Amino acid sequence: MANSLAFIVPAAQVKMARMRIRPAARIRGQLRVPGDKSISHRAAMLAALADGSSHISNFSTSQDCASTLSCLRSLGVSIEQKGANVLVEGRGATRLSAPIEALDCGNSGSTMRMLAGVLAGQRFDSILTGDASLRLRPMQRIVEPLELMGARVVSENGRPPLRIAGLDRLKPIHYELPVASAQVKSCILLAALNAEGGSVVVERSGPTRDHTERLLRWFGVPTETSAATDGSPANMIAINGPASFSARDVKIPGDISSAAFLIAAAALLPDSQLEILGVGLNPTRAQFVPIMSSLGFEIEIVGAREDGCEPFGDLIVSGKESALRPGPAGPNRINGPLIAKLIDELPLLAVLGTQASGGLEIRDAAELRAKEADRITATVTNLRAMGAEVEEYEDGLAVAGPISLRGARLDSYGDHRIAMAFTVAALVADGESEISGAECVVISFPEFFDLLETVVERS
Ligand code: S3P
Repeated sequence: MANSLAFIVPAAQVKMARMRIRPAARIRGQLRVPGDKSISHRAAMLAALADGSSHISNFSTSQDCASTLSCLRSLGVSIEQKGANVLVEGRGATRLSAPIEALDCGNSGSTMRMLAGVLAGQRFDSILTGDASLRLRPMQRIVEPLELMGARVVSENGRPPLRIAGLDRLKPIHYELPVASAQVKSCILLAALNAEGGSVVVERSGPTRDHTERLLRWFGVPTETSAATDGSPANMIAINGPASFSARDVKIPGDISSAAFLIAAAALLPDSQLEILGVGLNPTRAQFVPIMSSLGFEIEIVGAREDGCEPFGDLIVSGKESALRPGPAGPNRINGPLIAKLIDELPLLAVLGTQASGGLEIRDAAELRAKEADRITATVTNLRAMGAEVEEYEDGLAVAGPISLRGARLDSYGDHRIAMAFTVAALVADGESEISGAECVVISFPEFFDLLETVVERS
């Protein structure tokens, strides 16, 4: 049975399979979002490999990061967690202990791909597995470089489970990433910590999120990043192994990829005013903010600052007078090196595109088909159900805008970012919508519906 609450269902009832969402009038208020998921995974893994104990504050509340902590515990790492405060007793770079069972990464591609890099350099065998969605995701992209470094990694035709025969000293590698992926880059950098000599990772189409490089430097492991000198967008990261390092406390900024959904809802609803405090603004990650501005939405950064290894600041978003955006004349296009910096925000940007003057075209984004769901087909199907005009391409989509969306039966496809993007679409649609499988928001942002409810106004 579907929920039929006044506005959106409270979190306690999120377990129900379907959720009804009625249009909202505006969004008003001030809030914080939980800590960044990408940075939390990395902080926990590096803290586990450090000598001594590290305190991580504002650790992500996501189920994905809980999977990382649980795998680390199975590797002998003692972790104490009180809410968003996590104390990790590091074991040292090569001193994790062999797990008794297969390590369950749940739904988390980041856990599996990055932990594989860690495990390749430990002197025991291990198995990484996950839920039905994760077991369908491509892993050859990490198997290949790890094997070049000397580890033996057996997959099921390039998919999980992964059986890793680790070595206590890997070979260094010079590797150009075949796909722009921060997870693959991070996997190699983590493996390179236990390699004998200097490794280099090349990102031909420009930098992906650089949280691992920043955290490595924060923990005292020198990594050097250099741009190409031939005018191409290529980026190179060099690291020397073997590296041992000491524990260090880490403060995690708010997750921009979670904030994006609330930002979008406020920007789309006239007369809204929303302030989000302490959000991560790493330029390799937060391109959503300038893109919002270029699409004609009102968003402002105040008090940008750095405290720790990542930049962050407060964001103020205002909804414009008219429901349909008087943005710059189209066509608006997102493609090329920008895609990697916006990868998790693309389904939401497609929703925003339907409200932007000139619509929006997203290309060079075939990677979206290899996420928790095929995010191109999921976005196109849901948008069409809402009456949008959408073109689907192998590597992206194009939406016409501005256009009125109508309430519809929508599917999350078990993908947290699809569930949240279409909750936003449902808030600005005419009439009620229903989203099936909305409980999957726990994967990245368990508080999403509760927080939204604190700032949404219906009349
Ligand atoms: C992530 C990188 C991206 C992103 C994912 C998190 C990370 O994946 O989509 O949500 O933390 O490094 P890819 O590296 O597969 O592009």
